[in-house]
Amino acid sequence: MTAGTRILAMGHYQPSRVVTNDDLAATIDTNDEWIKSRVGIAERRIADGESVADMATFAAEKALAASGLTAADIDLVTVATCSSVDRCPNVATRVAARLGINAPAAYDLNTACSGFSYALGTADHAVRAGASRNALVIGAEKLSDVTDWTNRTTAVLFGDGAGAAIVTGVADGEQPGIGPVLWGSAPEKGDALRIEGWQPYIEQDGQTVFRWATTALAPFALETCEKAGIKPSELAAFVPHQANTRIIDGIVKRLGLGPEVVVAKDIIHSGNTSAASVPLALSKLIESGEVASGAPVLLFGFGGGLTYAGQVVRCP
Ligand SMILES: CC(C)(COP(=O)(O)OP(=O)(O)OC[C@H]1O[C@@H](n2cnc3c(N)ncnc32)[C@H](O)[C@@H]1OP(=O)(O)O)[C@@H](O)C(=O)NCCC(=O)NCCS
Repeated sequence: MTAGTRILAMGHYQPSRVVTNDDLAATIDTNDEWIKSRVGIAERRIADGESVADMATFAAEKALAASGLTAADIDLVTVATCSSVDRCPNVATRVAARLGINAPAAYDLNTACSGFSYALGTADHAVRAGASRNALVIGAEKLSDVTDWTNRTTAVLFGDGAGAAIVTGVADGEQPGIGPVLWGSAPEKGDALRIEGWQPYIEQDGQTVFRWATTALAPFALETCEKAGIKPSELAAFVPHQANTRIIDGIVKRLGLGPEVVVAKDIIHSGNTSAASVPLALSKLIESGEVASGAPVLLFGFGGGLTYAGQVVRCP
């Protein structure tokens, strides 16, 4: 049991293959100007043979190496994903086997694009309750597997990648680095975003999702800050799910964030990577030094379900 937890280290992985808007315009009726102005994406990374488990493992290896822990220290592995094609074994056990993590609790969690914050919340709870000492939390997606590359309304939006965090308990008297999770959903709107059936493709009612994201979410993001006892103006950075720069800008405005708060816009070069987008963007901000160690960062995921979840974390 511990009074609180923190993120010890992070890591990320993206495939090397870059697909630009012009590349897509060569095969479907779209163009760079439409994609940039409506969604904010310039390019995305698409897996070239890597599976969800491969990308999750590569991101986790980096997080583990940066944490100073070894595989022997990890006793819980959780992977947020909505695009893994294999039902069983789950991705978490595959990652554990590849990294030599012995006998961990290992589960996948699917709340689509809000998945990383849900998984981080469950890991925080497990460590606090004494069910785990050190947890490996991953968001990993290969959305290219569930994308209809002939459908311009979805093919331009998504990308592949993974991000990972090592979560551990804090010492007595030390400030927790992971704030209380706020999580929830709007199940009555669930059909607005679907990956259904066998050999499925992503389908969505884009405007329903857009309206919901730009109207319903800012109050929940604010409530997440309140739960952590922090004002939005005191944040060093905001890392929302990377679905659309217009959605991000709308939430930023409603939170009243000033230019001093770093806002993740990894979508420009990565597209929407669903459950991977928040840990990918956070890991990059840490790697680039844009957000200092100990700085408070609001994570906020949202998407299929329709689900949402967020928490304020301190940068490792
Ligand atoms: C998907 C989204 C970018 C579409 O933008 P939009 O402004 O709603 O665009 P619309 O669907 O109304 O389409 C507008 C026009 O652009 C066209 N269009 C759609 N996709 C296009 C593309 N890739 N290239 C060029 N034109 C396109 C449409 O056919 C339509 O043409 P029309 O006016 O002649 O009928 C936007 O709705 C969105 O971001 N929604 C949220 C989706 C999301 O974030 N999902 C993931 C959540 S995790």
